[in-house]
Amino acid sequence: MGIKIEGNLFYVHSKNMSLIIENHEGDLLLRHIGGKITAYHGSNALFEKDHAFSGNPTPDDRTYSFDTQRQILGVHGFGDFRQPSISISHDTNDLTQFKLKDYHVLSGAVEAAGLPNPYSTENAETLALVLEDKLAGLELTLYYTAYAERSTISSFAKISNLSDKAVVINRVLSTMLDVPASDYDVVTLQGAYAREKTVRRHKLEQGIFTVTSNRGASGHAHTPAMVLCDHTATEDAGQALALQLLYSGNFQAFVQKNQLNEVRLGIGINDDNFAWELSAGDSFDTPVAIMTYSAKGLTHLTHESQLFVQEHIMPKQFAHVERPILINNWEATYFDFKKEKLLDLANEASKLGIELFVLDDGWFGNRFDDNRALGDWVVNEEKLGGPLNDLIAEVHAKGLKFGLWFEPEMISVDSDLYRAHPDWAIQAEGRGHTYSRNQLVLNLANPDVVAYIKAAIDKILTENAIDYVKWDYNRNITNIGNGDTYLATQMQSHAYMLGLYDLVSYLTEKHSNILFESCSGGGGRNDLGMMRYFPQVWASDNTDAISRLPIQYGSSYLYPTISMGAHVSASPNHQMGRTTPIETRGNVAMMGNLGYELDLTSLPESDKEVIAAQVAHYKDIRPVVQFGKQYRLINPEQGSNEAAVQFVHEDKVVVTYVRTLSTIETIETTLKLKGLEEEALYCLQGTDQVYSGAELMYAGLTAILPQGDYLSKQYYFVKQ
Ligand code: DGJ
Repeated sequence: MGIKIEGNLFYVHSKNMSLIIENHEGDLLLRHIGGKITAYHGSNALFEKDHAFSGNPTPDDRTYSFDTQRQILGVHGFGDFRQPSISISHDTNDLTQFKLKDYHVLSGAVEAAGLPNPYSTENAETLALVLEDKLAGLELTLYYTAYAERSTISSFAKISNLSDKAVVINRVLSTMLDVPASDYDVVTLQGAYAREKTVRRHKLEQGIFTVTSNRGASGHAHTPAMVLCDHTATEDAGQALALQLLYSGNFQAFVQKNQLNEVRLGIGINDDNFAWELSAGDSFDTPVAIMTYSAKGLTHLTHESQLFVQEHIMPKQFAHVERPILINNWEATYFDFKKEKLLDLANEASKLGIELFVLDDGWFGNRFDDNRALGDWVVNEEKLGGPLNDLIAEVHAKGLKFGLWFEPEMISVDSDLYRAHPDWAIQAEGRGHTYSRNQLVLNLANPDVVAYIKAAIDKILTENAIDYVKWDYNRNITNIGNGDTYLATQMQSHAYMLGLYDLVSYLTEKHSNILFESCSGGGGRNDLGMMRYFPQVWASDNTDAISRLPIQYGSSYLYPTISMGAHVSASPNHQMGRTTPIETRGNVAMMGNLGYELDLTSLPESDKEVIAAQVAHYKDIRPVVQFGKQYRLINPEQGSNEAAVQFVHEDKVVVTYVRTLSTIETIETTLKLKGLEEEALYCLQGTDQVYSGAELMYAGLTAILPQGDYLSKQYYFVKQ
């Protein structure tokens, strides 16, 4: 377990995964990444590749080229024509030749400074490979941490400037891997606003396939993650490797298949609008990359990744705690509320068994619509009918916890904050502003701004009995230009992220009892960087149950289900105009952390009865959904008419089946369940029907929906 060094081979072993690196005269060659190999005997073939137009470092050896060797570090300029992992300008050029000079084995995980890091464990061990470029006076340390309990290895890079002059980092990836030529597919989580995290699978062809963000946030369109799997891999078989980044800003992840079918993968900060001036004596740490491996297909990869995130990334105090069922007033009232309306809503919620009342946007300053007041974090007592704490006390008295919405990184031009500090908004001098939702972004690269937000939010959280915070972020960053030199401006996007992590680590640690949920117009920043501080994410602003099927399917592809907020909203739905029965809206939201976001006070009694039953039932199945193993039974890809997901936890099984369009005929669908004990008996709750695990897995469960508008079914089994 952990790190082993034998001859010129470095082994990094986690649970069922190995990374094997060879020191070949100072060059670091990647011998293997994937399933566990405890003794590697190597292949000379790796050294016998002679290809025209590839550069050779030695005159009499045409078989050794950086273009054809599998490496963990790629530089351009010396015959490797693939994507580099590092580029640093110094003196008159940006050529570097790093050679291994030393290595260390360290217990536990090493932390990347100022950035989100996985929690270490007693059994974690780190290999630090120290390389140098003597000519440029640069040192590069590559860290690889093995976690004994999971098939995961994390890694990051540190560049130290040992010279007496500043250098400029143009590019540095968190990790790069060259893997053997083979037939691969690549799986990514893509989308757009209101249709986040759609699972996309592409066959890998010659060329470069990349997902990136240059928005100043990870964004709705792409996720800082990429899965490389066998072309033949299925949910239950085949090898798969996931690369993920613990970072919430501009990122790139790519996979390149070159002219020889060799494959290079990389993940890290996006080079676009990025450069980092590294003064003499300083060092720079990249964000941490997470590599997770499965030899047993994509579902197993999901389980490994979900567990790693839950155990090593999500804040510990919430990782294994059931999440409250909430009512959020946003789609119930938008900005149009007064204290009485809020209390009426809380009252209904309490009668229905709901556990947390969340007051969304519009409670502060002059915030009567979304054109003003961001930055003025002062309670609007006129709207709330008095001090915030009085409202909270009344909500608490109804047996509900209390949550509050913030959007701390933003500033409205019509705000007292902007009138006092117009220079605090991100802007390029003389270029005006670019608005989005009529708001601007505060420059978190400026420590004064971070200090202001820390104090303003801390004051409200300290003075009021708040149990939950929703942290929103409703635009992306433009007009980058606050630096006083070109380089300072190039550094601003990453400096913003360092300011953001300083801010959120301060507030979430100081108020560690508060459950923080991150949001960016839904899932616009649903990434591991945020999840390190925010154990819950509002997965999408699209609350339409049918639209949410692919969103939830993708949001839980690599992240644990317990991270995913899912709400029942009004019908017809406010975004899609679709009418969906309350049962189906409930069944879909119960595939995540159940909440409600509609005006409970205006619902017919029949709907309230259904909601009360859903809430009571969810309390029963909550551990199954939030702590269970998830199996994807039917993919709700756009265009498909069905979806089915199964959760198994201890002796309980929950299966949700949804048909997205009603059919005239009664068409049966067979759901072959997974992960059950063959001989055990499972009783379908609400009936006397008992099935063996073997029956449910091999003969399957027959799902039949009657014609009409009843679109879904949830099956709940308890092992006898
Ligand atoms: C966008 C969020 O995603 C919504 O849920 C809501 O909080 C609004 N912002 C409020 O402005």
